[in-house]
Amino acid sequence: MKPTDIDANPEQISKPIHLASGEPALLRPLQRGDARMLGQYFLGLSEATRRVYGPHAFDQETADRICAELDSGQGLRLLATRGSGAAEEVIGYFILVFGVHEGDRKRYQRLDIAFDAEGDCTLAPSVADAYQSAGLGSVMMEHLRHIARDCGRKRIVLWGGVRQDNPRAVHFYRKFGFEEKGEFYAGGVNNYDMIAQL
Ligand SMILES: CC(C)(COP(=O)(O)OP(=O)(O)OC[C@H]1O[C@@H](n2cnc3c(N)ncnc32)[C@H](O)[C@@H]1OP(=O)(O)O)[C@@H](O)C(=O)NCCC(=O)NCCS
Repeated sequence: MKPTDIDANPEQISKPIHLASGEPALLRPLQRGDARMLGQYFLGLSEATRRVYGPHAFDQETADRICAELDSGQGLRLLATRGSGAAEEVIGYFILVFGVHEGDRKRYQRLDIAFDAEGDCTLAPSVADAYQSAGLGSVMMEHLRHIARDCGRKRIVLWGGVRQDNPRAVHFYRKFGFEEKGEFYAGGVNNYDMIAQL
C-alpha cells in the first residue's frame, strides 16, 4: 500500500467493527472534514487520560490544525467512530507517525539504538474514557499493525515512552509485542521506552 494514496482513498484502510457491547463502530483514517468531531473528542478527554497521554494539546484549535495539515505520506491518524452522519462521534484516536521524532531519537541514541526513516514508525494511542478497558484499543492496534506493515514499516516506537504508573498501557503494549528498551524520568515519574517488531 502506498501511504500517500490513503488521503485520497480512505476506504482502503477503513473497517467496520463491533464494540464489546455489540454496537457497530467503524475504524477509518482521520479526514480533513473531521475537525469538529476530533475537537469534541479532545475536549471530552478526562484529566486522568490527559495526564498519561500528551502528544499535543487537546483543544479545537489543535484539531483544526491537524485536519488542515493532514498528509498520509507523513503518517496516519486512525479513528474509531460510532454513529453516522451528523451523529458520528470519535471514540478512539491512534496516531502513527512514519519515522521517529527527534526527542525520542535522542533518548535511544544513549541506548545505541538507531532508527531508519523508511522502516520505523511512532505510536501514540488513546481511547475515549467511556470506552477504555473494553477491548477497543486492542482492535484498533491489530488493525493499525496491519496497516503499518502494508506501508512497509518494520518497527514501532512509543512516542515519548510510557509512564510506569500507567499499568494498563504497559500491559497493552507488552500484549502487542512491545519490549522495554530503557527507562527515563520525565513528568515526575519513571517511563519506559518500548519498541515492537512488526
Ligand atoms: C492505553 C489504551 C489506548 C488501551 O486501549 P483500551 O481500549 O483501554 O485497551 P483494551 O481494553 O483493548 O486492553 C486493555 C488491556 O489492559 C488490561 N488492563 C486494564 N486495566 C489494567 C491495569 N490496571 N493493570 C494492568 N492491565 C490492565 C486489560 O485487561 C486489557 O488486557 P487484556 O486484553 O490482556 O485483557 C487506553 O486504555 C487509553 O486510551 N488509556 C488512556 C491513555 C493512555 O494511557 N494512552 C497511552 C499512553 S502511553
